[in-house]
Parts: sequence; C-alpha cells; structure tokens
Amino acid sequence: MKIEPAAALRGHIAVPGDKSISHRAVLLGAIGDGETIVRGFGRSGDTEATIEAVRALGVAVGEDDVDTLHVYGVGLRGLREPGVPIDCGNSGTTLRLLAGILAGQQGRFELTGDESLRRRPVDRIAVPLVEMGATVESEDGRPPLAIEGGALRGIRYELPVASAQVKSCVLLAGLYAAGQTTVVEPLPTRDHTELMLEAAGVRVTRKQRRIAVGPAEHLRLGEVDVPGDFSAAAPFIVAATLLPGSELTIHDLGLNPRRTGLLDVLARMGARITVFNRHKSAGEPVGDLEVHSAELTATAVTATEVPLLVDELPLFALAAAYARGESTVWGAEELRVKETDRIETVTNSLRALGVRVTPRDDGFWVRGVPTRPNGGRIASHGDHRIAMLGAVAGLVSRNGVDVEDAQAVAVSFPGFFELLDSVTQR
Ligand code: S3P
Repeated sequence: MKIEPAAALRGHIAVPGDKSISHRAVLLGAIGDGETIVRGFGRSGDTEATIEAVRALGVAVGEDDVDTLHVYGVGLRGLREPGVPIDCGNSGTTLRLLAGILAGQQGRFELTGDESLRRRPVDRIAVPLVEMGATVESEDGRPPLAIEGGALRGIRYELPVASAQVKSCVLLAGLYAAGQTTVVEPLPTRDHTELMLEAAGVRVTRKQRRIAVGPAEHLRLGEVDVPGDFSAAAPFIVAATLLPGSELTIHDLGLNPRRTGLLDVLARMGARITVFNRHKSAGEPVGDLEVHSAELTATAVTATEVPLLVDELPLFALAAAYARGESTVWGAEELRVKETDRIETVTNSLRALGVRVTPRDDGFWVRGVPTRPNGGRIASHGDHRIAMLGAVAGLVSRNGVDVEDAQAVAVSFPGFFELLDSVTQR
C-alpha cells in the first residue's frame, strides 16, 4: 500500500479500546463469577484470539456490537480442556497470560500461534510456572506450549526481564497457589493486571517493584469501560508532531503512566502536547490529548524508560530521524523478541528512507535531520507496529512510502488507515 505525503493532521479522533486492557477483561471475565460487561472493547486480530481462546475453554462470550462484550464467567476453576490446541494467533499477551490461568486448571492444555508467535520465547513463563508446581513443555523454549495444571504453591519470583506479560502470568497463577505469590520487577512495567485484579476484588499488595497476591476464592469484575489505546494513538501523536500546521485532539485516551513514556520523551524533545479532562475510569487514568506540531531536538531514551514506551520505540526512532542531533535508545534488548526483531526491522525501515541509523545489541542510534526524507519501501514483515511506522513515515516523507503487508495493522488496529485518512490534509 502506498502512503502519500500529507500536509498536516487536523481534527478530533478517538482510537479503539486498549488492547492490553481488553485482553485482561476477557480473561478475568472468563474466570469470574457471573457476567462481565466489557464496553469499549478494542477489537483486533489479537483480542479476537483471546475471545476465541476462552470460547474454546467453554466460556460463552456474547457480542452486542463491535465493542461491547458479555463474558459469562465460569469461575476460577471452571475452564474445560478443549482437547485441541488453542490458537493464540499473533498474540503474545493471549498466550502468556492464559498460560498462568491454565496452570491452575484441571487438565492438559496446548497453546500455539502463528509463525511469529512460534518464534517467541516462552521459557520466561515456563520457568516460574514449573517452580510453582505446573508441568510445562515447550519446543526448545518456543510454542507450542503444553500445560498441565497441578496443585500450585506460591513463590517469590524475581523477573529476569522487565515484562508485564511474564509478571501477569505469574500473578494469575498465584490466584491458584497456596500461600503468597510475589513478583519482583527489575523495572516498573504496565500494571493493568494488578489494577484489574483489584477491581475484581482481589487483594494485591504493591510495594515499589514488589507485587504480591494470595489465593483467590472469587473474581467479580462486573463492568469494564476500556479507555482508548495509547499505543494505537501513538502513530497519530507522532505524525501530528512532525507535520507542520497539525492540530489533533485525541479523546478518552488511556493515560496510565506505565504506558505514556512516549509523552515524556517527546516533551523533552520539544513536542507540544497538552493533556486535559483528566479523570479515572475503573482505576485507569484517562484524558484527552491535544497535539500541535513542533520542531524536535534529539534525546537519549534510557533503560529505565524503555518499558514505559516499549511498543512505541519504532515510532520514537522515526521522530528521532526528524529531530536535530543524535538520539539513542539503549537497554531495549526486549525489542528483539517482539512480533519481529524490532531492532532489525526498525533499522531496516529507516535505512530504506535514507535515515542514518545504527543498530546496537540493545537499541539503536539515529542521526536526525529536520527535513522530509525522500521516501521508499518499508516491509512490515507482518508486524503491526512496523506497518504503522511505515504509514507515518509515508505521511511525513517527500514522495511517499510503499508499505508491504500494510494490512498487518489489523493485529491491533483494523480501522487504522480509515481513521488516519479522516484527519489527513493533503
Ligand atoms: C503487553 C506487554 C508488553 C507489550 C505487549 C503487550 C501486555 O510485552 O510489548 O505489546 O499486554 O502485557 P512485555 O511485557 O513482554 O514487554
């Protein structure tokens, strides 16, 4: 798909419901008591995989319309062995969070996914689950993953990597374990699981980087209003910042500080972004954003910040390509095990546009020039975040960008191109 250059982004938008929160609402709803109503559900390839997974496990999910779900919970231990592998598609969150829940069920469960997911590491969840007493088999540390639940015991687990998925997996298994389960994070990561467990009536103890849960009797979520997905808004934020004359308002956006690292990074680069109408919805901070275009200067993203903008680092690289000076990211080795090796795919994408970018083991270095690059061809390799990077690169280029496999955006944001079109001034 060819993305033509744009003059500016102007208007008002709302983006689909947060993907991380949508996954969690369906998963916790599935093991809850009674009905959970999910409003503002972010429908996408990934979140559909979670709906299909819980259906395969015997949970009824009703769909009123695209973004309202009724999940009829079967209780903490009520999931049924499907007898066939559960396909998590492209979704690491589905696979890793569900594994924690399945470790507490009776039976044997197999989790698999598409080619990209079958290349991603699962030993990071297998290790703590085995320590808790589950039987877990994988193929050399990659899916398919076979899980046999057992009598679990609580553990204290120091995460070797800063990963919300791994943290969530262990905490969810902890609901089924005797005694306390404590996870210690090397750096703070997104805390949607902790917030939603609390909303469902579970006592979660949080002290700095230490999070603990005990065995649960019941979960009851009731209703979840999912705020807009910050990661889905990020391409719009970056495009509006880079295109002179832009003025874009994004309404009802999730602003959990563990997700909005991009705002802090862009702010110190000189971006003009204001937040207003701040409020809370189901424990999650929400607000509206107004983005005006701005000239940027280079910055360094440090390891501590990485988890706070982990999915936005490809877009940061593009912003850095426009910023005056040399920008760096380090401590981001996790990018290598995302839907693609994003250090490689980001570097290759920007180089295709003529940007001077150098990969490092754990990040990249970008030499920014505040003018439009010519354009070129970007291969998404089926990675939704790279497809969106390509789209923004096209808008801010001189001659447009051809994005290969642009439909990969549907993994997280099926209506991305239509929404982008609706605010693009040519
Ligand atoms: C997610 C956590 C992050 C993120 C992913 C969604 C989640 O992964 O990259 O897109 O919903 O918990 P890690 O926690 O493995 O870094």
